Amino acid sequence: MSVPLSDAGEITGSLNAAIAGLSEFHTPGRQGWTREVFSESYLDSRRWVQAQMGAAGLEVHRDAAGNLVGRLAGRNPAAPALVTGSHTDTVDGGGRFDGVVGVLGALEAVRLLRESGTVLERDLLVVDFLGEESNAFGLSCLGSRALAGELTAADLARTDYSGKTLAAAYADFGVDPSALLSFAGWTGKRRPHAYLELHVEQGPTLEARGLPVGIVTAITGIERLVASFTGTPDHAGTRPMDDRRDAMVAAAEAVLAIRSEGCGAPEHGVATVTRLENASRSPNVVPSLVRLHGEVRSVDESWLSGTRSRLAAEIAARAAEYDVEADLSWSTDNTVVRASDSVQDLAGDAASAAGIDWMPIPSGATHDAVHMAALAPMGMIFIPSANGKSHCPEEFTATDHIATGVRVLADTLVRLDQHKFSTTPHTTPRSTL
Ligand code: GLV
Ligand code: MN
Ligand code: MN
Repeated sequence: MSVPLSDAGEITGSLNAAIAGLSEFHTPGRQGWTREVFSESYLDSRRWVQAQMGAAGLEVHRDAAGNLVGRLAGRNPAAPALVTGSHTDTVDGGGRFDGVVGVLGALEAVRLLRESGTVLERDLLVVDFLGEESNAFGLSCLGSRALAGELTAADLARTDYSGKTLAAAYADFGVDPSALLSFAGWTGKRRPHAYLELHVEQGPTLEARGLPVGIVTAITGIERLVASFTGTPDHAGTRPMDDRRDAMVAAAEAVLAIRSEGCGAPEHGVATVTRLENASRSPNVVPSLVRLHGEVRSVDESWLSGTRSRLAAEIAARAAEYDVEADLSWSTDNTVVRASDSVQDLAGDAASAAGIDWMPIPSGATHDAVHMAALAPMGMIFIPSANGKSHCPEEFTATDHIATGVRVLADTLVRLDQHKFSTTPHTTPRSTL
Protein backbone atom coordinates (compact mmCIF):
# COMPACT_ATOMS: atom_id res chain seq x y z
CA MET A 1 0.00 0.00 0.00
CA SER A 2 1.17 3.47 -0.72
CA VAL A 3 -0.54 6.78 -0.03
CA PRO A 4 -0.15 9.80 -2.27
CA LEU A 5 1.92 11.68 0.26
CA SER A 6 3.04 14.11 -2.36
CA ASP A 7 -0.54 15.41 -2.28
CA ALA A 8 -0.71 15.46 1.50
CA GLY A 9 -0.07 19.12 1.87
CA GLU A 10 2.88 21.43 1.82
CA ILE A 11 5.95 20.82 3.89
CA THR A 12 5.45 23.94 5.86
CA GLY A 13 7.58 26.78 7.00
CA SER A 14 7.31 25.04 10.37
CA LEU A 15 10.13 22.69 9.35
CA ASN A 16 12.32 25.67 8.54
CA ALA A 17 11.29 27.28 11.79
CA ALA A 18 12.16 24.10 13.67
CA ILE A 19 15.64 23.93 12.07
CA ALA A 20 16.16 27.58 12.96
CA GLY A 21 14.81 26.92 16.47
CA LEU A 22 17.25 24.10 17.11
CA SER A 23 20.15 26.15 15.77
CA GLU A 24 19.55 28.65 18.58
CA PHE A 25 21.20 26.11 20.88
CA HIS A 26 24.93 26.34 20.37
CA THR A 27 27.99 26.82 22.50
CA PRO A 28 29.01 30.46 22.93
CA GLY A 29 32.53 31.27 21.77
CA ARG A 30 32.76 28.34 19.34
CA GLN A 31 32.54 28.58 15.55
CA GLY A 32 29.32 27.76 13.70
CA TRP A 33 26.53 25.90 15.45
CA THR A 34 28.61 23.89 17.89
CA ARG A 35 26.50 21.52 19.99
CA GLU A 36 28.82 18.71 21.01
CA VAL A 37 27.70 15.65 22.92
CA PHE A 38 27.66 16.13 26.73
CA SER A 39 27.86 19.93 26.39
CA GLU A 40 25.45 22.27 28.13
CA SER A 41 24.07 23.53 24.81
CA TYR A 42 23.34 19.94 23.77
CA LEU A 43 21.62 19.21 27.08
CA ASP A 44 19.44 22.31 26.67
CA SER A 45 18.69 21.53 23.03
CA ARG A 46 17.46 18.05 23.84
CA ARG A 47 14.80 19.37 26.20
CA TRP A 48 13.65 21.41 23.22
CA VAL A 49 13.74 18.38 20.89
CA GLN A 50 11.77 16.38 23.45
CA ALA A 51 9.13 19.12 23.50
CA GLN A 52 9.01 19.13 19.69
CA MET A 53 8.42 15.38 19.68
CA GLY A 54 5.60 15.83 22.17
CA ALA A 55 4.10 18.63 20.08
CA ALA A 56 4.16 16.30 17.05
CA GLY A 57 1.88 14.01 19.02
CA LEU A 58 4.50 11.41 19.93
CA GLU A 59 4.71 9.67 23.28
CA VAL A 60 8.30 10.49 24.30
CA HIS A 61 10.80 8.96 26.68
CA ARG A 62 14.54 9.11 27.23
CA ASP A 63 15.97 5.59 27.34
CA ALA A 64 18.78 4.27 29.57
CA ALA A 65 21.35 5.17 26.91
CA GLY A 66 20.22 8.80 26.69
CA ASN A 67 18.37 8.47 23.37
CA LEU A 68 15.15 10.42 22.93
CA VAL A 69 12.49 8.10 21.55
CA GLY A 70 9.09 9.34 20.34
CA ARG A 71 6.40 6.78 19.57
CA LEU A 72 3.57 7.11 17.08
CA ALA A 73 1.25 4.24 17.95
CA GLY A 74 0.35 1.84 15.15
CA ARG A 75 -2.67 -0.42 14.86
CA ASN A 76 -0.64 -3.38 16.09
CA PRO A 77 1.79 -2.31 18.84
CA ALA A 78 2.89 -5.94 19.28
CA ALA A 79 4.43 -5.95 15.79
CA PRO A 80 8.14 -5.07 15.49
CA ALA A 81 8.38 -1.29 15.19
CA LEU A 82 9.52 0.84 12.31
CA VAL A 83 12.32 3.18 13.31
CA THR A 84 13.53 6.45 11.84
CA GLY A 85 15.60 9.35 13.18
CA SER A 86 19.14 10.66 13.35
CA HIS A 87 21.11 12.93 15.68
CA THR A 88 21.16 16.54 16.84
CA ASP A 89 24.69 16.82 18.21
CA THR A 90 27.26 18.54 15.99
CA VAL A 91 31.00 18.57 15.54
CA ASP A 92 32.97 21.53 16.89
CA GLY A 93 32.33 24.30 14.36
CA GLY A 94 29.53 22.31 12.72
CA GLY A 95 26.42 23.33 10.82
CA ARG A 96 22.63 23.23 11.14
CA PHE A 97 21.63 20.28 8.95
CA ASP A 98 23.81 17.23 9.61
CA GLY A 99 21.57 14.87 11.60
CA VAL A 100 19.04 17.60 12.36
CA VAL A 101 17.24 17.01 9.06
CA GLY A 102 16.73 13.34 9.98
CA VAL A 103 15.17 14.14 13.36
CA LEU A 104 13.08 17.20 12.54
CA GLY A 105 12.31 15.82 9.05
CA ALA A 106 10.96 12.66 10.70
CA LEU A 107 8.61 14.82 12.79
CA GLU A 108 7.46 16.47 9.57
CA ALA A 109 6.92 13.01 8.06
CA VAL A 110 4.75 12.16 11.08
CA ARG A 111 2.69 15.25 10.31
CA LEU A 112 2.34 14.20 6.66
CA LEU A 113 1.17 10.76 7.73
CA ARG A 114 -1.43 12.25 10.04
CA GLU A 115 -2.65 14.76 7.50
CA SER A 116 -3.02 12.08 4.86
CA GLY A 117 -5.05 10.01 7.34
CA THR A 118 -2.44 7.23 7.22
CA VAL A 119 -2.38 4.95 10.25
CA LEU A 120 0.53 2.54 10.22
CA GLU A 121 0.19 -1.07 11.22
CA ARG A 122 3.29 -0.86 13.37
CA ASP A 123 4.51 1.65 15.91
CA LEU A 124 6.77 4.25 14.35
CA LEU A 125 9.65 5.26 16.63
CA VAL A 126 11.40 8.57 15.92
CA VAL A 127 14.80 8.61 17.61
CA ASP A 128 17.20 11.42 18.40
CA PHE A 129 20.25 9.22 19.03
CA LEU A 130 22.68 10.42 21.67
CA GLY A 131 26.05 11.69 20.44
CA GLU A 132 26.49 10.48 16.88
CA GLU A 133 29.58 12.54 16.12
CA SER A 134 32.95 11.13 17.07
CA ASN A 135 33.95 12.80 20.32
CA ALA A 136 36.94 13.43 22.56
CA PHE A 137 36.71 9.76 23.59
CA GLY A 138 37.23 8.73 19.95
CA LEU A 139 33.90 6.96 19.64
CA SER A 140 30.98 7.82 17.39
CA CYS A 141 27.30 6.85 17.55
CA LEU A 142 27.03 6.40 21.31
CA GLY A 143 23.25 6.07 21.42
CA SER A 144 22.77 3.76 18.45
CA ARG A 145 25.71 1.60 19.58
CA ALA A 146 24.00 1.11 22.94
CA LEU A 147 20.68 0.24 21.30
CA ALA A 148 22.45 -2.40 19.21
CA GLY A 149 24.10 -3.84 22.32
CA GLU A 150 27.53 -2.83 21.02
CA LEU A 151 28.68 -0.42 23.75
CA THR A 152 31.23 -2.15 25.98
CA ALA A 153 32.79 -1.64 29.41
CA ALA A 154 36.07 -0.96 27.58
CA ASP A 155 34.33 1.84 25.70
CA LEU A 156 33.14 3.39 28.97
CA ALA A 157 36.74 3.31 30.25
CA ARG A 158 37.99 5.38 27.29
CA THR A 159 39.43 8.74 28.34
CA ASP A 160 39.40 12.18 26.77
CA TYR A 161 42.41 14.50 26.57
CA SER A 162 41.99 15.49 30.22
CA GLY A 163 41.83 11.88 31.44
CA LYS A 164 38.07 11.95 32.12
CA THR A 165 36.37 8.64 31.37
CA LEU A 166 33.41 8.24 29.06
CA ALA A 167 31.55 6.73 32.03
CA ALA A 168 32.08 9.95 34.01
CA ALA A 169 30.90 12.05 31.07
CA TYR A 170 27.70 9.98 30.89
CA ALA A 171 27.15 10.35 34.64
CA ASP A 172 27.60 14.15 34.46
CA PHE A 173 25.05 14.19 31.63
CA GLY A 174 22.51 12.33 33.78
CA VAL A 175 22.92 8.87 32.20
CA ASP A 176 23.77 6.14 34.71
CA PRO A 177 26.76 4.20 33.23
CA SER A 178 25.98 0.98 35.11
CA ALA A 179 22.37 0.98 33.88
CA LEU A 180 23.77 1.62 30.44
CA LEU A 181 25.91 -1.51 30.51
CA SER A 182 22.99 -3.70 31.49
CA PHE A 183 20.69 -2.02 28.95
CA ALA A 184 19.60 -4.60 26.38
CA GLY A 185 18.59 -1.89 23.93
CA TRP A 186 16.66 -3.26 21.01
CA THR A 187 18.38 -6.62 20.82
CA GLY A 188 16.44 -9.88 21.17
CA LYS A 189 12.65 -9.60 21.09
CA ARG A 190 12.74 -5.82 20.73
CA ARG A 191 14.41 -5.91 17.31
CA PRO A 192 12.73 -3.41 15.00
CA HIS A 193 11.12 -4.30 11.67
CA ALA A 194 13.30 -1.84 9.71
CA TYR A 195 15.34 1.34 10.09
CA LEU A 196 15.28 4.26 7.65
CA GLU A 197 17.23 7.53 8.05
CA LEU A 198 17.00 10.78 6.12
CA HIS A 199 20.31 12.68 6.02
CA VAL A 200 22.10 15.37 4.06
CA GLU A 201 24.67 13.89 1.68
CA GLN A 202 27.57 15.94 3.12
CA GLY A 203 29.41 15.58 -0.19
CA PRO A 204 29.18 16.99 -3.73
CA THR A 205 27.75 14.12 -5.82
CA LEU A 206 24.00 14.82 -5.84
CA GLU A 207 24.45 18.52 -6.48
CA ALA A 208 26.95 17.85 -9.27
CA ARG A 209 24.53 15.44 -10.93
CA GLY A 210 21.54 17.73 -10.38
CA LEU A 211 19.66 14.99 -8.50
CA PRO A 212 17.42 15.66 -5.47
CA VAL A 213 17.74 12.23 -3.84
CA GLY A 214 20.36 9.55 -3.28
CA ILE A 215 19.57 6.10 -1.96
CA VAL A 216 22.44 4.80 0.09
CA THR A 217 24.06 1.54 -0.96
CA ALA A 218 26.67 1.23 1.79
CA ILE A 219 28.27 3.19 4.62
CA THR A 220 32.01 3.58 4.84
CA GLY A 221 34.15 1.60 7.26
CA ILE A 222 36.40 3.65 9.56
CA GLU A 223 39.78 2.65 10.98
CA ARG A 224 41.02 5.05 13.64
CA LEU A 225 44.68 5.47 14.53
CA VAL A 226 46.44 6.91 17.56
CA ALA A 227 50.18 6.90 16.90
CA SER A 228 52.78 7.85 19.54
CA PHE A 229 56.21 9.01 18.42
CA THR A 230 59.03 8.88 20.96
CA GLY A 231 62.35 10.64 20.49
CA THR A 232 64.72 12.43 22.88
CA PRO A 233 64.15 15.84 24.51
CA ASP A 234 66.97 18.31 24.10
CA HIS A 235 67.78 22.00 23.70
CA ALA A 236 66.20 23.30 20.47
CA GLY A 237 68.95 25.93 20.15
CA THR A 238 72.02 23.79 20.63
CA ARG A 239 71.35 20.20 19.53
CA PRO A 240 72.76 19.89 15.95
CA MET A 241 70.26 19.06 13.22
CA ASP A 242 72.00 15.82 12.27
CA ASP A 243 71.97 14.59 15.86
CA ARG A 244 68.35 14.80 16.90
CA ARG A 245 65.60 12.33 17.68
CA ASP A 246 62.76 14.72 16.88
CA ALA A 247 59.36 13.09 17.43
CA MET A 248 57.55 15.96 15.67
CA VAL A 249 59.41 15.39 12.42
CA ALA A 250 58.53 11.68 12.48
CA ALA A 251 54.89 12.62 13.18
CA ALA A 252 54.97 15.08 10.28
CA GLU A 253 56.27 12.30 8.01
CA ALA A 254 53.37 10.15 9.23
CA VAL A 255 50.91 12.91 8.30
CA LEU A 256 52.26 12.76 4.75
CA ALA A 257 52.26 8.96 4.69
CA ILE A 258 48.60 8.94 5.76
CA ARG A 259 47.75 11.48 3.08
CA SER A 260 49.47 9.29 0.47
CA GLU A 261 47.46 6.30 1.69
CA GLY A 262 44.25 8.27 1.12
CA CYS A 263 45.40 9.49 -2.29
CA GLY A 264 46.08 5.89 -3.32
CA ALA A 265 42.66 4.72 -2.18
CA PRO A 266 40.00 3.43 -4.53
CA GLU A 267 37.02 5.70 -5.18
CA HIS A 268 35.42 6.80 -1.88
CA GLY A 269 38.55 6.06 0.15
CA VAL A 270 40.07 8.83 2.25
CA ALA A 271 42.66 9.25 5.01
CA THR A 272 42.95 12.19 7.40
CA VAL A 273 45.09 13.29 10.33
CA THR A 274 42.93 15.38 12.64
CA ARG A 275 45.17 16.15 15.59
CA LEU A 276 48.82 16.31 16.67
CA GLU A 277 49.70 16.74 20.35
CA ASN A 278 53.14 17.55 21.69
CA ALA A 279 53.55 16.39 25.30
CA SER A 280 55.83 19.37 25.98
CA ARG A 281 54.46 22.91 26.05
CA SER A 282 57.90 24.51 25.73
CA PRO A 283 58.73 26.33 22.49
CA ASN A 284 62.48 25.67 22.82
CA VAL A 285 62.66 21.90 23.35
CA VAL A 286 63.19 19.27 20.65
CA PRO A 287 59.88 17.36 20.79
CA SER A 288 60.27 13.95 22.37
CA LEU A 289 56.69 12.70 22.62
CA VAL A 290 54.07 13.47 19.99
CA ARG A 291 50.69 11.85 19.58
CA LEU A 292 48.86 11.76 16.24
CA HIS A 293 45.16 11.06 15.73
CA GLY A 294 43.99 9.96 12.30
CA GLU A 295 41.43 7.91 10.43
CA VAL A 296 41.14 5.99 7.18
CA ARG A 297 37.78 5.35 5.50
CA SER A 298 36.50 3.38 2.55
CA VAL A 299 33.50 1.40 1.39
CA ASP A 300 36.00 -1.01 -0.21
CA GLU A 301 36.53 -3.64 2.47
CA SER A 302 39.48 -5.32 0.81
CA TRP A 303 41.43 -2.08 0.48
CA LEU A 304 40.50 -0.94 4.00
CA SER A 305 41.55 -4.25 5.50
CA GLY A 306 45.09 -3.65 4.22
CA THR A 307 45.47 -0.10 5.53
CA ARG A 308 46.80 -1.06 8.96
CA SER A 309 49.71 -3.08 7.62
CA ARG A 310 50.53 -0.66 4.80
CA LEU A 311 50.64 2.31 7.15
CA ALA A 312 52.46 0.40 9.89
CA ALA A 313 55.31 -0.36 7.46
CA GLU A 314 55.44 3.13 5.97
CA ILE A 315 55.23 5.04 9.24
CA ALA A 316 57.83 2.82 10.95
CA ALA A 317 60.24 3.21 8.01
CA ARG A 318 59.88 6.99 7.97
CA ALA A 319 60.22 7.27 11.78
CA ALA A 320 63.36 5.10 11.67
CA GLU A 321 65.01 7.68 9.40
CA TYR A 322 64.87 10.09 12.36
CA ASP A 323 65.71 7.40 14.94
CA VAL A 324 62.24 7.85 16.45
CA GLU A 325 60.09 5.04 17.81
CA ALA A 326 56.55 4.81 16.45
CA ASP A 327 53.86 2.96 18.36
CA LEU A 328 50.56 2.56 16.50
CA SER A 329 47.26 1.80 18.18
CA TRP A 330 44.29 1.09 15.88
CA SER A 331 40.60 0.73 16.52
CA THR A 332 37.75 0.02 14.13
CA ASP A 333 35.04 2.62 14.62
CA ASN A 334 32.83 0.68 12.26
CA THR A 335 33.22 -1.84 9.48
CA VAL A 336 31.67 -1.28 6.06
CA VAL A 337 27.92 -1.74 6.32
CA ARG A 338 25.62 -2.35 3.37
CA ALA A 339 22.09 -1.04 3.17
CA SER A 340 19.34 -3.62 2.78
CA ASP A 341 18.53 -4.33 -0.87
CA SER A 342 14.82 -4.38 -0.05
CA VAL A 343 14.91 -1.03 1.72
CA GLN A 344 16.85 0.46 -1.20
CA ASP A 345 14.26 -0.91 -3.62
CA LEU A 346 11.32 0.44 -1.59
CA ALA A 347 12.90 3.88 -1.24
CA GLY A 348 13.64 3.92 -4.97
CA ASP A 349 10.04 2.93 -5.70
CA ALA A 350 8.76 5.69 -3.40
CA ALA A 351 10.91 8.31 -5.12
CA SER A 352 10.07 7.11 -8.63
CA ALA A 353 6.33 6.97 -7.84
CA ALA A 354 6.51 10.65 -6.92
CA GLY A 355 8.44 11.47 -10.11
CA ILE A 356 11.60 12.19 -8.15
CA ASP A 357 14.91 11.35 -9.84
CA TRP A 358 17.44 9.56 -7.68
CA MET A 359 20.70 7.65 -7.81
CA PRO A 360 22.30 4.93 -5.69
CA ILE A 361 25.12 6.44 -3.63
CA PRO A 362 27.67 5.22 -1.06
CA SER A 363 28.16 7.20 2.15
CA GLY A 364 31.62 8.45 3.12
CA ALA A 365 30.23 9.71 6.42
CA THR A 366 29.22 7.34 9.16
CA HIS A 367 25.75 7.28 10.64
CA ASP A 368 23.62 5.78 13.39
CA ALA A 369 22.28 3.59 10.59
CA VAL A 370 25.50 1.55 10.83
CA HIS A 371 24.49 0.26 14.25
CA MET A 372 20.79 -0.03 13.48
CA ALA A 373 21.81 -2.33 10.60
CA ALA A 374 22.92 -4.86 13.22
CA LEU A 375 19.30 -5.01 14.38
CA ALA A 376 17.16 -4.67 11.28
CA PRO A 377 17.12 -4.08 7.53
CA MET A 378 18.53 -0.58 7.14
CA GLY A 379 18.33 2.14 4.53
CA MET A 380 19.16 5.81 4.13
CA ILE A 381 17.87 8.61 1.95
CA PHE A 382 20.30 11.40 1.04
CA ILE A 383 19.44 14.91 -0.09
CA PRO A 384 21.93 17.37 -1.60
CA SER A 385 24.38 19.50 0.39
CA ALA A 386 25.10 22.93 -1.09
CA ASN A 387 28.64 22.92 -2.51
CA GLY A 388 29.00 19.49 -0.95
CA LYS A 389 30.00 21.11 2.33
CA SER A 390 29.49 19.65 5.80
CA HIS A 391 31.03 19.68 9.29
CA CYS A 392 31.45 23.42 8.83
CA PRO A 393 29.25 26.48 9.39
CA GLU A 394 28.55 26.78 5.64
CA GLU A 395 26.68 23.46 5.64
CA PHE A 396 23.34 24.09 3.90
CA THR A 397 20.50 22.22 2.27
CA ALA A 398 17.67 24.09 0.54
CA THR A 399 14.15 23.74 1.92
CA ASP A 400 12.86 22.24 -1.34
CA HIS A 401 15.39 19.44 -1.09
CA ILE A 402 14.48 18.78 2.54
CA ALA A 403 10.81 18.72 1.59
CA THR A 404 11.53 16.18 -1.16
CA GLY A 405 13.52 14.03 1.26
CA VAL A 406 10.73 14.12 3.83
CA ARG A 407 8.18 12.97 1.24
CA VAL A 408 10.36 10.06 0.16
CA LEU A 409 10.99 9.22 3.82
CA ALA A 410 7.27 9.23 4.64
CA ASP A 411 6.26 7.17 1.62
CA THR A 412 9.05 4.65 2.17
CA LEU A 413 7.99 4.25 5.80
CA VAL A 414 4.47 3.44 4.61
CA ARG A 415 5.84 0.87 2.18
CA LEU A 416 8.13 -0.63 4.83
CA ASP A 417 5.22 -0.89 7.26
CA GLN A 418 3.58 -3.41 4.93
CA HIS A 419 6.71 -5.08 3.63
CA LYS A 420 7.49 -8.67 4.52
CA PHE A 421 11.25 -9.16 4.50
CA SER A 422 12.54 -12.53 3.43
CA THR A 423 14.24 -14.54 6.14
CA THR A 424 17.54 -14.56 4.26
CA PRO A 425 20.16 -12.06 5.47
CA HIS A 426 18.93 -8.53 4.84
CA THR A 427 21.97 -7.48 2.85
CA THR A 428 23.72 -9.06 -0.07
CA PRO A 429 27.00 -7.86 -1.55
CA ARG A 430 25.36 -5.84 -4.29
CA SER A 431 27.81 -3.30 -5.70
CA THR A 432 28.38 -0.46 -3.23
CA LEU A 433 29.32 2.09 -5.81
C1 GLV B 1 30.15 11.67 11.17
O1 GLV B 1 29.59 12.56 10.56
C2 GLV B 1 31.29 11.00 10.61
O2 GLV B 1 31.22 10.60 9.44
O3 GLV B 1 32.31 10.88 11.30
MN1 MN C 1 25.24 12.99 10.66
MN1 MN D 1 28.47 14.54 11.15
